[in-house]
Amino acid sequence: MARKLAAGNWKMNGLKASLAEATALAEMFPAPKVDILLCPPATLVAAMAEALSGTKIDTGGQDCHMKTSGAHTGDISADMLADAGADYVILGHSERRADHGETDAIVCEKTMAATMAGLVPVVCVGETLDQREAGDTLAVIRKQLSGSLPDAVDLGKLVIAYEPVWAIGTGKIPTLDQIAEVHDDMRATLTARYGAGASDIPLLYGGSVKPANAAEIFATSNVDGALVGGASLKAADFSGIVSAL
Ligand code: G3H
Repeated sequence: MARKLAAGNWKMNGLKASLAEATALAEMFPAPKVDILLCPPATLVAAMAEALSGTKIDTGGQDCHMKTSGAHTGDISADMLADAGADYVILGHSERRADHGETDAIVCEKTMAATMAGLVPVVCVGETLDQREAGDTLAVIRKQLSGSLPDAVDLGKLVIAYEPVWAIGTGKIPTLDQIAEVHDDMRATLTARYGAGASDIPLLYGGSVKPANAAEIFATSNVDGALVGGASLKAADFSGIVSAL
């Protein structure tokens, strides 16, 4: 059975003063029943990892390059994230796919790089509204999973996040039946490829998760947690989501 994970993605939000929200969250959950992860912008990864050392909250990056080093101005490698104290890295977020042209093949290479560096990749997939309305959701998710994941994965160190693009930051979420349909299909797809061990992979839902809707989402089939954007920025909000898991 997959472990439970509440993950916060701060996106391009957060200055040094924001670390107080991370430490406040750690004080609220000195012995959490679920895994908790915060992914700040790259500038704060080292400081957050240090601020949270000795707590039960992990730190992650929001992207990494597929190479370990070299002439790639502005990029950071998975090894650098690990060196800064990160435990996880979000990969293939729809904002990276849209803003930076990341393809499944690129995400796959980054996933391998993250694994080599000892990080847990949080690989994101999700359909656009057009794709959902065309009835293509499951085919899109299956294709993204197939292309974004390498054949060799450490099933105990991999997280998948299903984030419908149209639900991100919009206040709209799929019906619970729609979430269950995708999550059940992802579990079946992963099991067909990797075997029974795929039941250990946490499957997160992301897209407009709030304290008010978290409990019903977490009660949905094969939902093992959430990848949370806006509501992860304040400890008061994110704690409500962590408590619901
Ligand atoms: O990575 C997080 C997601 O994009 C969800 O963002 O909770 O602000 O909708 P949101």
